[in-house]
Amino acid sequence: MKILVVGSGGREHAVIKKLKESRRNPEIYACPGNGGISKDAKCVDIGAKDIDGVVKFAKENKIDLVVVTPDDPLVLGMVDALEDARIKTFGPNKAAAIIEGSKVFSKNLMKKYNIPTAAYETFDKPEDAIDYIEKNNTYPIVIKADGLALGKGVIIAQNHDEAINGIKEIMEDKKFGASGNHVVVEEFLTGPEVSVLAFTDGKVVKPMVSSMDHKRALDNDKGLNTGGMGTVAPNPCYTDEIEKEAMEKIFLPTIKAMEKEGRTFKGCLYFGLMLTPKGPYVIEYNCRFGDPETQVVLPLLESDLIDIMEHISAETLSEMDIKWKKGSAACVIMASGGYPVSYEKGKEISGLDLNGNHDGVIVYHAGTKLENDKFLTNGGRVLGITALGDNLQSALDKAYKACEDISWEKVHYRKDIGQRALRG
Ligand code: AMP
Ligand code: GLY
Repeated sequence: MKILVVGSGGREHAVIKKLKESRRNPEIYACPGNGGISKDAKCVDIGAKDIDGVVKFAKENKIDLVVVTPDDPLVLGMVDALEDARIKTFGPNKAAAIIEGSKVFSKNLMKKYNIPTAAYETFDKPEDAIDYIEKNNTYPIVIKADGLALGKGVIIAQNHDEAINGIKEIMEDKKFGASGNHVVVEEFLTGPEVSVLAFTDGKVVKPMVSSMDHKRALDNDKGLNTGGMGTVAPNPCYTDEIEKEAMEKIFLPTIKAMEKEGRTFKGCLYFGLMLTPKGPYVIEYNCRFGDPETQVVLPLLESDLIDIMEHISAETLSEMDIKWKKGSAACVIMASGGYPVSYEKGKEISGLDLNGNHDGVIVYHAGTKLENDKFLTNGGRVLGITALGDNLQSALDKAYKACEDISWEKVHYRKDIGQRALRG
């Protein structure tokens, strides 16, 4: 069986390593992959947004399954193009990927189908947004660019001036390009956050093990928002009772709502939840596996990932009993110093073996390249160091021990991943 995974980050490496465990012994390709991924898959120099290039490669090489993982190609309609070419895919089509591609769409969907989410208004003119913010006069207030913005299109404004500046940056200066043509202005919620990735074939939804992301660059949730600096799974704040409530009020209603809208969602749907005093609320949907959530969730998956993907494609997911390992997983992201603002690339990484691995942990490569048998840094987030343990503390201990052995000039990682979770 030949599988092509589209993308080049730590999440893609985690998907590839899990696919490699399949009893079907697949031959795996990555477009474009990275230095570390090249040890687990054949990397092909085709960009993750190059729809025509990916379709052509998949056809010519008789690929049996294409797994599209990043948001951009999904929102651009890569799955539609592959399906038109009769190639089996994993991932939502364009009509369904809008659940992440447009926050205005997802907020309106939740309002229409009574799915708990922060109260909000949407605007397409900056003066109307400013007028609303001034009349509302309650801070903090949350401002979100409508479209994709590399996870950076959310501003939590603490006061009037920050809110007005935020609107101007997004809507007038177009800091996130056309993503800022419309904005959502919403109520500020409080409570622990939980990421729940769920497999769905559009009819049934099977949540994976829950997780917790750490989005800020520095310890104690200080510094700028990043793509994610570390994760743990399962998330101890997410009790069985909350899971049941989330299933009834959020997961199933979302799947049914998408079907009713003629936008049946097939693939992995990511629910970003906040556990508020009023129960679980949706902060955001993503139309894909989370990064770095996948780096702690998939290592705990016991069942064969290819079986799951095939059941989703055939819309027979209800027939499958998905099994998970006991215990916990922790992932510490090792980043380039200066990330997420500016950082250098090309630093030689020490502490990895010839295949980019390290004893006792799973090393997921996010931003590396391979030159003369040496791994060099090639991005902001460089490695994800994942460890499994009987409990969260032992997983964290193993991951952090490995981080001490792996190094490069100006390496940076948070030292407090999992501390919030350990407090419960
Ligand atoms: P998002 O990109 O939508 O996940 O938002 C980034 C982060 O902003 C979330 O993980 C939350 O920590 C925070 N956030 C987003 N919306 C809200 C809200 N309505 N209230 C409080 N925090 C929020
Ligand atoms: N970790 C958040 C995301 O994947 O968007």
